[in-house]
Amino acid sequence: MAAIRFQIYILAFCAGLVIQSSCCNGHSGPQKKRAALFVFGDSLYDAGNNNYINTTTDFQASWFPYGETFFRYPTGRFSDGRTIPDFIAEYAKLPFIPVYLQPGLKDYTYGVNFASGGAGALVETYQGSVMDLKTQVSQFKKVEKQLRQKLGDAEAYTLVSEAVYIINIGNNDYVSPLATNTSHKEYVGWVIGNLTSWIEDIYQKGGRKFALSSLAPFASMPLMRTTQPAGSTAGPSRKEVAALVKLHNRVLAKVLLKLTKELQGFKYSKLNLYTYLRERINHPLKYGFKEGKMACCGSGAYRGIYSCGGKRSVTEYLLCDNATEFVFFDCAHPTERVNKQLSKLWWSNNLKELFEV
Ligand SMILES: *[C@@H]1O[C@H](CO)[C@@H](O)[C@H](O)[C@H]1NC(C)=O
Ligand SMILES: *[C@@H]1O[C@H](CO)[C@@H](O)[C@H](O)[C@H]1NC(C)=O
Ligand SMILES: *[C@@H]1O[C@H](CO)[C@@H](O)[C@H](O)[C@H]1NC(C)=O
Ligand SMILES: *[C@@H]1O[C@H](CO)[C@@H](O)[C@H](O)[C@H]1NC(C)=O
Repeated sequence: MAAIRFQIYILAFCAGLVIQSSCCNGHSGPQKKRAALFVFGDSLYDAGNNNYINTTTDFQASWFPYGETFFRYPTGRFSDGRTIPDFIAEYAKLPFIPVYLQPGLKDYTYGVNFASGGAGALVETYQGSVMDLKTQVSQFKKVEKQLRQKLGDAEAYTLVSEAVYIINIGNNDYVSPLATNTSHKEYVGWVIGNLTSWIEDIYQKGGRKFALSSLAPFASMPLMRTTQPAGSTAGPSRKEVAALVKLHNRVLAKVLLKLTKELQGFKYSKLNLYTYLRERINHPLKYGFKEGKMACCGSGAYRGIYSCGGKRSVTEYLLCDNATEFVFFDCAHPTERVNKQLSKLWWSNNLKELFEV
């Protein structure tokens, strides 16, 4: 009887995972319970939320050639294919995590994606055009409440406390004009302070497991290697951005150690996005790429003008034949191949352990 019930359980479980072909293959032991994945942050992790907000094309990627390599249609992801949360979900044997603003979304049991292209940790960053981090947190709180209504307090608490909370945030704050107006130390303090509030808010709802990344080497991206067209908002210089990002990464490392001591049960895994990406930019051949500095899609020097797909203010653009050979797809976003390499490294470093329940 128990064996039959177990089989039915497995079948029901697999039926829910339409997209996951790897589900249930090659496992002879009992199926492990899965931790859900809640995704927050900016364009590195947005999987289409910005398709549903009132914004401009600067904050969207919902046209060809975005999506060309994997999905074969634009999903709103800022890449030619899958993003880091997509690969993490796959390794954790979860389906693709749905975006919160997707109309009709009701099932939150595998997690939800709240990330919004252009978002920063500060509300001032691209205010009015993005879902900032505070908004993302308030959406998460609504989801948590609905989970309690649906599953009951105890089961919802189990889901929330076993779930992994993944975020990439901060790069947009450091290209904001506001960053030129404050001392580096104070400004980084605000960004990290608001990121810490994100952790504390989720912790207060029962979340314990956090997956964060150091900031990407923004100053080494094609966007910062080229002169932007007149009319683009003036932010800090390339040199300043480089210094801010480095300071942010140092402070973040310290704060995470401090939180580990202060918050009982708090666990985290960090992706060293800065180092991993810089390595690939500087030594593309070593990692199987042909081009590290120039983007696959865009215009101007290094294809650093944000024109991929021709739907933003600059409408001419060039597109490479094979995105897989490039580190950057457009001037500020890596290709799927980079996302996959980084996800694999992160998973096997120690992210896998966060998903064990
Ligand atoms: C969308 O944003 C624009 C510019 O900010 C504004 O003029 C317009 O009223 C907004 N539309 C809606 C439906 O909110
Ligand atoms: C910078 O600070 C000055 C003086 O405090 C203020 O007038 C200005 O609006 C600020 N600029 C930005 C981009 O916040
Ligand atoms: C969050 O950012 C705001 C600026 O948007 C800043 O005034 C505030 O001090 C920051 N919060 C923390 C906890 O650092
Ligand atoms: C694209 O590049 C990758 C990596 O160099 C290679 O494996 C693949 O065969 C190429 N695809 C095409 C269609 O040329």
